[in-house]
Amino acid sequence: MKILLAGGAGYIGSHTALCLLEKGYDVVVMDNLLNASPEALRRVEKMTGKQVALEVGDCCDIARTREVFAAHKPDAVIHFAGLKAVGESVAKPLYYYQNNLIATMTLCQVMKEYDCNILVFSSSATVYGLATEMPLRETVPTGGTNPYAWTKIMSEQILQDVAKTDDSRSFVLLRYFNPIGAHESGHIGEDPTGIPNNLMPYICQVASGKLDYLRVFGDDYPTRDGTGERDYLHVMDLAEGHVAAIEYAKDHKGAEAFNLGTGTAYSVMDIVKNFEKANDLTIPYQVTPRRPGDIAVCYADPSKARELLGWEAKRDLYTMCRDAWNWQKQNPRGYEK
Ligand code: WQD
Repeated sequence: MKILLAGGAGYIGSHTALCLLEKGYDVVVMDNLLNASPEALRRVEKMTGKQVALEVGDCCDIARTREVFAAHKPDAVIHFAGLKAVGESVAKPLYYYQNNLIATMTLCQVMKEYDCNILVFSSSATVYGLATEMPLRETVPTGGTNPYAWTKIMSEQILQDVAKTDDSRSFVLLRYFNPIGAHESGHIGEDPTGIPNNLMPYICQVASGKLDYLRVFGDDYPTRDGTGERDYLHVMDLAEGHVAAIEYAKDHKGAEAFNLGTGTAYSVMDIVKNFEKANDLTIPYQVTPRRPGDIAVCYADPSKARELLGWEAKRDLYTMCRDAWNWQKQNPRGYEK
């Protein structure tokens, strides 16, 4: 079975490509390389001894997308191709709506033209917005707090509506919680552009000395230790969730959303302390005011994915912290784009 990974040269995509190859799938990647390096795929090839065809191009470009489908005739698509910086989406909403929604609609249209009916979509826990009832179930009404989140909600809606009119389609919408870590080899990992927005890559750059200290965004939340709590999951568990989604989609038509999380919330200070213990390091930090738009607590009820996908996160926080640092220390300058 041949899987096209749209946006597959990035952090989640490269780990998913590795998983798919190891399970015997063929993999083709289409990526505009705006936020990714071809080096990630070269390393995946070296790790697996298998080829990954890379087609440089933008999924918003229908002519280029048709060329890729004509050349490779994929049996399924995993759609990672989207801009994902929350803060940037607030500053540039039109850029985000155009890019993320046109990519989804273009893939949907070209898939139909080439009789490719399985799509796994990279969605996000941010679709739950300011929902407060924890743990979050897939039935909780969605609502965005920023344009990035709305592009995920709208993409899900587009896929739900298309599936209603076309019973040949199988769409699996994966709502990621907070993916962190790297493959245990340290050969592939998260390589953010510029100063990281997210907690774990920021901690890793403090640990490597690239950044001076961690700013802890608020310690006055109604949580165990006052710092924000999130559902962190190992990126390899997340990658394995995509393989489970492809298997599920083979036997199920329609559109279905699944939370991919561990069901456990850890605070910022939990992450700092576990990172220090796992790697025998000290992370200097300072508590600063809350980051605008942050919520206190966000974690998943992952039971639907366990029951229907046969998937659950297996790797613990110690492993997430150890693997994150293992990648960073081996690759202090990332893939050196
Ligand atoms: C986690 C916790 C911060 C950085 C983001 C986006 C979105 C989504 C998941 C794709 C929070 C605290 C962070 C720092 C800190 N990805 N923090 N100092 O905000 O839960 O979600 O990632 O869909 O990109 O919604 O993740 O890692 O930014 O923050 O104290 O320097 O760490 O306040 O409590 P978040 P995050």
